[in-house]
Amino acid sequence: METVRLSDKLELTRVIAGCMRMVDAGKKGGELLCFVQECMELGINCFDHAPVYGGGLCEKTFGEDVIAACPGIREKIKIVTKAGIVVPGTYGNRHIYYDSRENSLLAEMEASLKRLHTDHVDLLLIHRPDILGHPEEAARALEKIVQDGKALEVGVSNYEVSQFEALQHYLPFPLVANQVELSVKTTDQLFNGVVDTAMRLDTGIMAWSPLGGGSVFKGEDEKSLRLRKAVGEIADAHGTTMDTVMYAWLFRHPAKIMAITGTMSSEHLKPAVEALALELSYDEWYGILAASRGFDVP
Ligand SMILES: NC(=O)c1ccc[n+]([C@@H]2O[C@H](COP(=O)([O-])OP(=O)(O)OC[C@H]3O[C@@H](n4cnc5c(N)ncnc54)[C@H](OP(=O)(O)O)[C@@H]3O)[C@@H](O)[C@H]2O)c1
Repeated sequence: METVRLSDKLELTRVIAGCMRMVDAGKKGGELLCFVQECMELGINCFDHAPVYGGGLCEKTFGEDVIAACPGIREKIKIVTKAGIVVPGTYGNRHIYYDSRENSLLAEMEASLKRLHTDHVDLLLIHRPDILGHPEEAARALEKIVQDGKALEVGVSNYEVSQFEALQHYLPFPLVANQVELSVKTTDQLFNGVVDTAMRLDTGIMAWSPLGGGSVFKGEDEKSLRLRKAVGEIADAHGTTMDTVMYAWLFRHPAKIMAITGTMSSEHLKPAVEALALELSYDEWYGILAASRGFDVP
């Protein structure tokens, strides 16, 4: 599997298995371990987590049923997790909020490590920018987490360019990735400077919901209908599937975008891997962009 080198210490596969839907899909025990092994057979050795997935149950189940249950597996896989979202009820709060204060990030890191049954993660991301937090304080927490060996590298998720640059300003080492929503369905990051900045700084872009959360397959909104037609025609022309084309559309971009899959079915994972071998033409790529936006580029 092709990888992206994010630093001297960290390389991630172009396809990363997202674990957000794990608990809802009922994946646990031997079935979960089997899914992880199938991922690894396909060359996918990186798993994306967050404390908020399944209210902590996704990390906990993965930690117990994969890492603790299968000695030796931890060294063969990379784990990404996140910190910084406080869901209602956590501290008696009525509202969800984002918290990147030092103590909050440090405590979340510890809790994730405990749930995941590991002493470090490969990559920790601040899940969403805390509007009330000074980036200097978030940077202090990230620096301590790296110094203590709790995360090999750190990055962010859902950060705009200015937020990324403000946090980077206070760090003595580079943020290695920005995980953002990016797909044929959601193309904003290609126009708001996020992807351009990643190329300028040689930072990784990790695309979440690479299939638009599955909406292109069944959505009845106009955008989904346009995309289903355009992507379907290109898939037919290549003798492949719509999901393969949607992943290939991301992989065709020069930023070496990594796709975080959401499927919990190993059959649905294969198209993501196969897409690495499908090079869309300029005409096909811009045609899908036009179907997404509803108009050709001027
Ligand atoms: N950083 C963030 O803020 C953030 C936010 C959201 C998500 N994420 C990460 O991104 C990952 C992926 O997000 P996502 O789940 O929205 O990704 P997605 O890949 O866009 O959507 C997954 C959905 O598509 C369906 N699907 C896949 N292949 C299909 C096919 N051939 N036909 C019909 N349906 C198909 C899946 O169902 P099946 O299971 O039946 O295949 C699943 O319901 C998450 O697991 C999480 O790790 C990060």
